[in-house]
Amino acid sequence: MFVDSLQSKPYINKIVNGKVIWSAPSNIALVKYWGKLPNQIPANPSVSFTLDACRTTTSVTFKKKQNTSDDFSVEVWFEGKLTPSFKPKILTFFERIEAYLPFLKTYHFVITTSNTFPHSSGIASSASGMSALALCLLSIEQQLTNEALTQEDFQNKASFLARLGSGSACRSIEGDLVVWGIHDEIPGSSDLFGLKYPFEVHDNFKNYHDAILLVDKGEKQVSSTVGHKLMHNHPYAENRFQQAHNNLSALISVFKEGDLKKFINIVESEALTLHAMMMTSNPYFILMKPNTLKIINKIWEFRVASGSHLCFTLDAGANVHVLFPDKESEQVYDFIRSELVDFCQNAHYICDTIGFGAKQITQ
Ligand code: DP6
Repeated sequence: MFVDSLQSKPYINKIVNGKVIWSAPSNIALVKYWGKLPNQIPANPSVSFTLDACRTTTSVTFKKKQNTSDDFSVEVWFEGKLTPSFKPKILTFFERIEAYLPFLKTYHFVITTSNTFPHSSGIASSASGMSALALCLLSIEQQLTNEALTQEDFQNKASFLARLGSGSACRSIEGDLVVWGIHDEIPGSSDLFGLKYPFEVHDNFKNYHDAILLVDKGEKQVSSTVGHKLMHNHPYAENRFQQAHNNLSALISVFKEGDLKKFINIVESEALTLHAMMMTSNPYFILMKPNTLKIINKIWEFRVASGSHLCFTLDAGANVHVLFPDKESEQVYDFIRSELVDFCQNAHYICDTIGFGAKQITQ
């Protein structure tokens, strides 16, 4: 039972201090997680491509406290600067995971973190950040128990912990396609952790590209956490949750057969539905910007004119993720450079591809 494997084993090793480092990727959802129940349980299943270039690297230095107090002792450094503003989120995370990592109050932690993408890019760093931190903390626990978890148990527990930091973070431990949330047709799928997609994936999806067009680098007006809450009593919630199940079912044969037309239809519909949920919440809000819509229209025109299989998806913000198969990458990048960069803030976009998950960094 997975839940049994969460219980910590006795801490037989007396370790005074140490340091661990992990690098974890971001991910982009194809079927979106939007709406949750208590304890970070998703209201519907989701599936994502794990990214490769967009990553967070986190090191955790730990030192045994002289006196074990009832407080967590944490210092956070972000991109070389002491950043107290990150602390509340990390303390909430520690509170949620302490039951599974009982050593957290017995050490002082210095957490040093940096992203490969610019902080003010509007790219959410919570997925890569929380998964990197969860992996560091689980690695520390492994040293304390001296217990060799199987790779699968380690990844599942890391994903379980990361989920408690940020839901989408549980999909950032492994690659290249990850499902989170119980789905009838996907054996092993769980609300508690992300599962590597277990079925056949056509070569069309190998090395898929994601060019992230940075339309608006500003702080979002409405956080994802608030957005998720607005799905409670949302007039369309139940239909939306059912639609996510149906779209994930449909994607199973799309992934197997490599049907890019159906893939485009599902992925773009998911993106627009996500934003439709925001526009139909109460209070309602719009995270797309005029340039988001201009880019979407340009993509649609280009697809008709060129027969290309590029499509877009959106996360909870104004930036546009342009997804396309590897064999069309030259043509699509030409199009992005000639037609889309003008709609990006400071002509800024990030070239990424599907990746294979988090990595421990040995010093
Ligand atoms: C739109 O994982 O950021 O990106 O669990 O509150 O931290 P919390 O939310 P978060 O929500 C991500 C929402 C999304 C869709 C997705 O990634 O599936």
